[in-house]
Order: sequence, then C-alpha cells, then structure tokens
Amino acid sequence: MTRLFGPSKRALKYSGHSSLADLNDIVDADIYDPEANPDGIVNLGTTMNPLMLDMLTEFTEKKYRLDPKLGRPAPLPLSKKRTYTSSANNYNFSTGSPKLRTTVADLLNRHFSPSHPIDQRNVVCSNGLNGLINSLIYTLTDENESVLMPTPAYSMLVDVSRKRNGVKCAVADVEDIDQFSASAIDDLLATFSSAIEEAQAQGNPVKVIMMCNPHNPVGRCYDAEVMRAILRFCHQRGLHLVVDEIYALSAFGETFNSALSLDEMPTDNVHVLYGISKDWGFSGLRMGFMISYNEHVITTLKQAVGRLTRFSYLSEDFFISFMSDHAFIDEVYIPTLRQRLIATRTKAIRFLTAYKIPYIPSTAGYYLWIDLSRWTNVFKGRDSETPDIQLVRQMVKHGVFVQPNKAFISKEKGRFRIGFSRDTVTLNEGLDRLRRALGEVESI
Ligand SMILES: Cc1ncc(COP(=O)(O)O)c(C=O)c1O
Repeated sequence: MTRLFGPSKRALKYSGHSSLADLNDIVDADIYDPEANPDGIVNLGTTMNPLMLDMLTEFTEKKYRLDPKLGRPAPLPLSKKRTYTSSANNYNFSTGSPKLRTTVADLLNRHFSPSHPIDQRNVVCSNGLNGLINSLIYTLTDENESVLMPTPAYSMLVDVSRKRNGVKCAVADVEDIDQFSASAIDDLLATFSSAIEEAQAQGNPVKVIMMCNPHNPVGRCYDAEVMRAILRFCHQRGLHLVVDEIYALSAFGETFNSALSLDEMPTDNVHVLYGISKDWGFSGLRMGFMISYNEHVITTLKQAVGRLTRFSYLSEDFFISFMSDHAFIDEVYIPTLRQRLIATRTKAIRFLTAYKIPYIPSTAGYYLWIDLSRWTNVFKGRDSETPDIQLVRQMVKHGVFVQPNKAFISKEKGRFRIGFSRDTVTLNEGLDRLRRALGEVESI
C-alpha cells in the first residue's frame, strides 16, 4: 500500500538499515561504566579521547567556578552576567568570530608548521567537522561529480561527502600497498589514476581527492613526500585536495606533516580540516575548522551554506578560554596527551602480542588496525550474515564492541579497528572481555 505523507526518495536512498547500525545502537544504549553500569558494553569501537578528562574537568570547574556543594556554576557578578548572557543568547557568528578564527590560526601556526602563515581570514568554523565536510563538498562539487578516497577510509567521510550533495564516492583500493611511505608513490598514483578513469567512464568525473592524515583507521601518518606527490598530481589534473587532519596533535613523535607545511603552499586547491573532537576531547562542543588560502571557495562556502552550520557561543567561548594559556597548551596539555596515548597504546599492543593478533603499528590516533581473520574464518558459511558481523555479535554477547571493516570501506576481511584511549579499568575490562569472546570462538 502506498503510504501518504512519506519521506522523500532522496532521504530514503540514504536511510538504509544495517546490522552494524543495529549493533552500534545496542552498544550506545548500554555503555559500560565501572561504577554506574559495570554490566554494560565496553565500547572499544568509537574513537574518542577521554584521556585528558582530568585537565578538562579542572579547567571547566575553574572557568565556571562550580560550587562543589551545588555541582553547578556559582553566580557571576552582575556586570559579567549581563555581557555573558546577552552574547550567549544571541546568534553567534555563523562561520566563526574573528576572535575564534584568530585562536585557531594561532594554534595551527604554532603546531602545524605552515610554510605560509595562517591568517584568521583563512579559517572557516562550523558545528563539527562532519557538517563542515558536507558544506565543503557542496561548495567544491556539482551533482554527479565524484570525490576520490583511498581505502580503508572512515566511512563517515564517505557518508558526509555524499549525503545531500548528490555526489559519488570513487574509491582507490590501496590496502595491499604501504600508501604512507614514499616507496609507494608510483603505485598509489597509478591506483588513483585508474579510479579517476573509471569514474569518468561512468559519467562521474572526480573533482576532489580526500585524504585523512593522520589516517583513520590505520593510525599512520603520510610521509611528506607522499603528500607532495599527491598535491602535484592534483595540480596536474585540476583537482581539489582536501586533507582531514583532525588527529594532528595525537601523532606521537615527529611523524605528522601537515599539508599546510608543504613548500608548495599556499595554493588554491588545498583545503585542510581540523576539529576539537579528538586532540581536545571536546566532541560535545561541536566545532570544526577549515583552513584554505582560496578566498573564492571560502566566500562561496560562507555565503551559500555557512549559516546552516552555526554553533553555540558557549562552545566558542569555552574553547577560546581553554586555548588562551599557550604555555599550558604547548608545554603541558599536548605533551601529556602524547605520553598518555603512548602508554595506553603500549597496553593494547601487549594484549595483541600475547594473543598473536596481527596489527599495523600506529604512530598516531587512538586506535589500531588489527587482523582478526583467524577468528572470523570460523564463521565462514555458517550464517547469512558476514563472518565479521557474526564476530561482532559474539563480542557484544561478551560485553565488548570493536569496529569491523564494514565501517571503513575495506575489502580486507577480518580487519577491525580497536580503540585504546580509555581509562585503565575500562581498557583492561574491554580487553579481558575480548579475550573471552575470542576464546569462545576458538572452541566452536
Ligand atoms: C577522520 C575524522 N574526521 C571527522 C570526524 C568527525 O569530527 P566531528 O566530531 O568534529 O564531527 C571524525 C570522528 O570520528 C573522524 O575520525
């Protein structure tokens, strides 16, 4: 029966249900907490950064002068209250106030080694990076054009690029080469070229190459030579290069090279993305940034869609205050984040080594790309669901969740991304449950 008052065909096209989405919902509805919900599910699938909660809490308490008895902000003096309330209640700047953009430019000038200084006019702000990617792709492409991404790729990048924009995603399958190292440049570009030709032949010419550096889900950084070669390739082909650098400061050691640091910059076809959900652990404040030297793209994005992704004054105010103490940010916060990431990654690696689980050694981010095919193979031909999803079900039954390859457009069966940025109790509990889940599979 035809339903009256139904949704649009284009919304229905993207609203498909999947077993993985269902499993994610089960996990979200019953999140483990050592005290409040010890029987809940330990989520080692989502990339989040709770490692710096102590510093964030200390700052929040100081900024809002929380009354320890009431657990809510102590009253502000009347004069301050007036200014604060009027700013907070009004519409905020849609793509970032000059003060916010200057704060972002300062941070990146200090930590991304840009070859050309970033000015606040080069910065666009939005309510989270996902929304900004959607707006940027809207601004750079027309319907039926394509965005090219190497795989494995964080599927949300594919989703937010395509949804509402009517563009296609062309994937360059580079899973069997070491796409991060200079020795792979020829193979990488040859694969890009074939994917571009294929998309062209299908009537969906590629307009943008989108990279993620540091990479999600592999956790590696591209060699500067690789980024330079991709940039040259984009120039020759007349393509935009969008680089998502949201994990930039979570790279350990000197492994990260921002696209902004390349000698070829500034150039009109490169747009770098950054955000506060990862390095800063502020995924709830919802802010994302783009840095571009292309005035025409910046103005068009702002005028066309900038007002659709406005964010709260309170988020902006909080972030600006947090960033204002440069000595704390540069000499305490960032080094501590890296030390903690290395420590927790070491624990995860110890576990993987003990259970002979192959992994790609990561140099950045909060996760490791691991190979559980020894266990997924057990499920082959046993059910209508893929072996990877069956293994996830087994894990969820044991109270732990790890993200399977399906979330990363990966053809390599049995690959999973395991997140390790958790407090010690949660991580130990999660790994213990994973050990039990895998142990049970071995006895099938
Ligand atoms: C590579 C990458 N880009 C963007 C995002 C989304 O960022 P935001 O929370 O700012 O929307 C994520 C979140 O997991 C991510 O991993």
